[in-house]
Amino acid sequence: MRTHYCGELNSQHIAQTVTLCGWAHRRRDHGGVIFIDLRDRTGMSQIVIDPDTAAAFANAETVRNEFVLKVVCKVRARPEGTVNPNIPTGEVEMLASEIEILNPSLTPPFMLDDDNLSETVRLEHRYIDLRRPAMQKNMMLRYRVSKTLRDFLDVNGFIEVETPMLTRSTPEGARDYLVPSRVHAGMFFALPQSPQLFKQLLMVAGFDRYFQIVKCFRDEDLRADRQPEFTQVDIETSFMSEEQIMNIVEEMIRQMFKSVQAVELPAAFPRITFAEAMNKYGSDKPDMRVTLEITELSDVMKGVDFKVFSGAANMEGGRVAALRVPNGAAISRSEIDAYTEFVKIYGAKGLAYIKINDITQLNETGLQSPIVKNIHVKALQAIIDRTGAQNGDIVFFGADKTKVVNEALGALRTKVGHEKGHVDGRAWAPLWVVDFPMFEHDEENNRWAALHHPFTAPKDGHEDLLTSNPGAALSKAYDMVLNGWEVGGGSVRIHNQAVQSKVFDALNISKEEAQEKFGFLLEALQYGAPPHGGLAFGLDRLVTLMAGAESIRDVIAFPKTQRAQCLLAKAPNEVDEKQLRELHIRIRQQNTAG
Ligand code: AMO
Ligand code: AMP
Repeated sequence: MRTHYCGELNSQHIAQTVTLCGWAHRRRDHGGVIFIDLRDRTGMSQIVIDPDTAAAFANAETVRNEFVLKVVCKVRARPEGTVNPNIPTGEVEMLASEIEILNPSLTPPFMLDDDNLSETVRLEHRYIDLRRPAMQKNMMLRYRVSKTLRDFLDVNGFIEVETPMLTRSTPEGARDYLVPSRVHAGMFFALPQSPQLFKQLLMVAGFDRYFQIVKCFRDEDLRADRQPEFTQVDIETSFMSEEQIMNIVEEMIRQMFKSVQAVELPAAFPRITFAEAMNKYGSDKPDMRVTLEITELSDVMKGVDFKVFSGAANMEGGRVAALRVPNGAAISRSEIDAYTEFVKIYGAKGLAYIKINDITQLNETGLQSPIVKNIHVKALQAIIDRTGAQNGDIVFFGADKTKVVNEALGALRTKVGHEKGHVDGRAWAPLWVVDFPMFEHDEENNRWAALHHPFTAPKDGHEDLLTSNPGAALSKAYDMVLNGWEVGGGSVRIHNQAVQSKVFDALNISKEEAQEKFGFLLEALQYGAPPHGGLAFGLDRLVTLMAGAESIRDVIAFPKTQRAQCLLAKAPNEVDEKQLRELHIRIRQQNTAG
C-alpha cells in the first residue's frame, strides 16, 4: 500500500512514483490547482493536484482538514521560488495521479498549528492533540529514552521483573489509591506507590540486579512535575555500596543523554550534602545553573533591634539568611513587591532588603533600606562581608523558622536567578545530593518521620544515633537532581533486623504495627537477605526536561489534569449500583457541610 512516509521524500526521489498515506493538514485552492499538505508521523509532503487529472481533482475538492488520504503521486522538483528550506521535504512536491479518501473527518475542535490552545481542549481530544508534530516528537523521545535505559540495564545484567499492581500500602508517604475487593467484603487493595517492598524481596530471592519500567500511583497534590500515575525506572541491586550504585546509574544517565540527544554530561556529577544544599541553596534539589547563593546570618542577628531578625535568630529552629543579587539595586519597587508576594507562597511574612549604594558607609545613605537603622554596625558589616555585596547590589533577607526561610529564599534564588540572568550558561546541571538525614521532625504530630522511607540504612557509625539523637543520624540515601528537578532517588537498605528495629523505635512504630504493615518484608530479611540498595528515576520528569516541555503532562500520552481527572475518558466516574453492591460499598450522601 504505502511506499514511503511523507517526511522522508527529497530531491533524491525525483521522478519516482510513490504512494503516501496520511492526514490532510491543510488544503489550499490556488485558482485551478489544489495543494494539500499531507502529514504523517514523520512530517509533511506537499501534494499538487492538477485539474487535468480529473478524478483526483474531484476527490481533492471534497478534502477537508484531517481527512485520511491515500495518494499516488510522482515526485518532482518544486518550481523556482517555491522551495521551502525550512522543512526537510521543501525541495520537492508530489504531483498526484490518484487520491483516495480513506476516511473523512469532522471539523477538528482546534487547528493543529494553533499555538494558544487551552489545555482542557487539548486533553478532551487528546488523540488529535497527539497528532501535532511537537507531541509526536515528545512521545518518540520518551520511547527512545526508555528504550536506551532498558538496553543499558540489559547489557549490565539487570533483568526486568514485574511486580503486582494489586497490593497493599507501600511506605512512600503519599495517599494510596484503593481498589475494593469483591471477594473479601470490606477489604481493599492499594495500588503501589512504588515497587519498593517487592524489589527488596527480589533481592532476598537472589535476582541480584533488577529493574522495571513501571507505573506508580500516588494520590497527592498535583503540580507541573507530578502526576497521580507516573512511571519509574526502578532499580535494585545486591552487594553494591552507595558509591557503586550511584556510579552505575550515573553512567546510565550519561550514556542515555549522549545517545538520545548527543549531549555530553560531566564525567563525574558533582555531589553535595543535604546540609550544604539547604544552607546554600535552601533546597534539596537546587538548580545549579543559578549562580546565586544564600548566606547564613543567624549568629550575628541575635542582638539587633529589628525584632523580625533577632526574634528568628534567637528562636529554636529559626534562621536568618540573606540572598545577594549582584547589580540588583536596579530592581524596581514594584518588582520587589512582586517578589514579596512570591515568597509569601512559601510562608514568608515579608521580604526585607537592602540596596547597596556604598559599602563604606554603614548607614542609611550607604545602605538604602527601612531596616538599616535597626541593625547595628557590626551586623551590617557582617552582611557586607559574608555576602560579598558590592555597590549596586541588592541583598534580600529571610527570617523565620528554618524551613520557611529555606523554602522562600530557595525559590526566590531560582526565580531571580533566571529572571535577572544570574545563570552560568550551562544547558544541563546534574547533581547528586547525599548524606540525607534519616528523619525529619513532623511538627504537627511532634514525632520523627522517615525522610526517605523506613527501610533506608543509616550511614556506617550512625546506628547508635538512631536511639540517642535521631535528628543527627544520616542515611545512605541519595537523590539525583537535574536543573532543579529531583529526577531520581534511592538508598542502601537495612538488611539487619536489629537496625531495622531501632529505626522503627525512632519512628515510634510499635512491633505490632511494623508486623501488621511490613511483616512480610521483616520476615524475609531474616532468611538470608543480602546487603542491597537501589533507586528509582522519574521517567516522566527526565523526558520533560529533555523535551524542554513545561509540564510532565506534555510527555505523557494520556495524562490527568491538575484535578486528577482524565478529560478524555471522563475518569473517575460513577459506577452502577450493582457493581457497588458486589463490592460491598455504599456511597454516603455528600452534604455541603462535608
Ligand atoms: P521516590 O519517592 O523518590 O522514591 O520516587 C522516585 C522518583 O519518582 C519521581 N516521582 C514522580 N514523578 C511524577 N509524579 C509523581 N507524583 C512522582 N513522585 C515521584 C521522582 C522521584 O525522584 N521507592 C523509592 C525509590 C528507591 O528508594 O529505590 C521511591 O519511590 O523523579
Ligand atoms: P516591618 O517592620 O514589618 O514593616 O517590615 C520591614 C521589612 O521587613 C519589610 O520589607 C518586610 O517585607 C520585611 N519582613 C517582615 N517580616 C519578615 C520576615 N519574616 N523575613 C524577612 N523579611 C521580613
